[in-house]
Amino acid sequence: MEMESLRDLYIEELKDLYSAEKQLVRALPKMVKNATNPQLKEAFQNHLEETEGHVARLEEIFESLESSPRGKKCVGMEGLIEEASELLEEDAEDDVLDAGLISKAQHVEHYEMAGYGTVRTWAQTLGEDHHVELLEQTLQEEKNADRLLTQIAESGVNIDAEVGDEEEEEETPSRSRSAKRPAKRPARSTRKRASR
Ligand SMILES: [Fe+2]
Repeated sequence: MEMESLRDLYIEELKDLYSAEKQLVRALPKMVKNATNPQLKEAFQNHLEETEGHVARLEEIFESLESSPRGKKCVGMEGLIEEASELLEEDAEDDVLDAGLISKAQHVEHYEMAGYGTVRTWAQTLGEDHHVELLEQTLQEEKNADRLLTQIAESGVNIDAEVGDEEEEEETPSRSRSAKRPAKRPARSTRKRASR
């Protein structure tokens, strides 16, 4: 495809996102099935429904562009899904698998956020105001999904995964996100650890 203008690039990136969303619609049921934590299961299920909405929004955009969303494969999403599949093949303890699935899903969310942030901004430049609205809605849903996953990880899954192994119980609770949210983490982890 010839790329002569920002509009050409915009359409290519939209096709890429369309492929990414379609792949995700196929992959998420496996994540729902393999998640153990009920909150996580529900989050994946809800995001599957949202993702179907993301596909529909992109189809609406392509209709207004009188163009087809097909013809491009998002190899980035293919790789991210492949990584999640590899994790599912590991012999992982339930809580550890949940923590891993959250990580894989957050990689996906950030990948999509980068894509939607870009096309939303290009749509603004191109004067496609309705597209901006639609893309912004999807971007917000991806951000919310990412935030919810962080919450689920921090409120229990990471801790359960850590204490899942006897040897690790001796370790100092050092977690990457604890520095960012110091007020919440210590209270929860102390309570959880005390109960063990
Ligand atoms: Fe999406």
